[in-house]
Amino acid sequence: MPITRPPDILPSEITPSEIYRGRREFMRSTGALALAGGLGSLAGDATAGAKLAGTRPGPYGTSEELTPYKDVTTYNNFYEFGTDKADPARNAGSLNPHPWAVQVDGLVKRPGHYDLDALLKLAPLEDRIYRMRCVEGWSMVIPWVGYPLDELIRRVEPLGNAKYVEFTTLNDRARMPGVRSPVLDWPYTEGLRLDEARHPLTLLAVGLYGETLPNQNGAPVRVVVPWKYGFKSAKSIVRIRFVEKQPESSWMSAAPREYGFYSNVNPDVDHPRWSQSRERRIGEFFKRKTLLYNGCGEQVAGMYSNLDLRKYF
Ligand code: MTE
Repeated sequence: MPITRPPDILPSEITPSEIYRGRREFMRSTGALALAGGLGSLAGDATAGAKLAGTRPGPYGTSEELTPYKDVTTYNNFYEFGTDKADPARNAGSLNPHPWAVQVDGLVKRPGHYDLDALLKLAPLEDRIYRMRCVEGWSMVIPWVGYPLDELIRRVEPLGNAKYVEFTTLNDRARMPGVRSPVLDWPYTEGLRLDEARHPLTLLAVGLYGETLPNQNGAPVRVVVPWKYGFKSAKSIVRIRFVEKQPESSWMSAAPREYGFYSNVNPDVDHPRWSQSRERRIGEFFKRKTLLYNGCGEQVAGMYSNLDLRKYF
């Protein structure tokens, strides 16, 4: 990955019942592509499960078998709803992500408040199937819907001294039972170097499997950074701030020896407590080898040519 081959069927062309049966099985049983029903804007309002119509195949993606919808939406890390993998699906019903707005500010010429409708209209929505690798040693293949984060970044016009982007996510005790526990410093924050944030693989995601994001996957808007461990992909974002100095993420402050700023997927740099050389694809029995930059090396290695990946893990 990423392979510049469009998927044989767009996730947005699969209806929810087919989603549960899995893409492969669906294709086998129909033996044909489902043709897109009318293209257009959002069908229904943007709650989890609303179909995102009019998406188009993105230029990057893998053609590996998708992780079933059920696993993508019931095996999650979203500590604001609890630390067990099943907690987010169980508890995130209270998130109620509407209305929603993302504040974009800091070192930019045109700061602003973008409500969800504005974000959805900012750029054409793309289907992109990305392999995702969690730092804990498991991986999934997820069909995201979104567009390059750079579509937003170029509109706000970062100033010359903007070197990093900081993402802040929702921190609301009333809607997020997990933030009563001090397991992390809330709000959950993450950061990217500006060139990483502007990289064409970095997505602002609003959906998966052709539908709006389920709450447990970071509704209504999150980032997806496929060559980094999953924790860099912040969920339920409320603020995007452009800064000069490298921001400190929640994971860096919780355990600086274990979680660095870069967090590029790297089979040669072990986590202090476990190896990163192999991973378990959810749904598979045997482990597979982890790929440098999660297989995106062709696209992203150039950004790190002068970086000691052991020091800057
Ligand atoms: N974003 C927030 N706000 N809170 C979190 O706990 N967990 C991260 C990341 N984004 C997390 C978050 C981690 S550790 C992973 S692996 C991915 O979300 C999981 O995304 P998924 O559940 O959609 O697969």
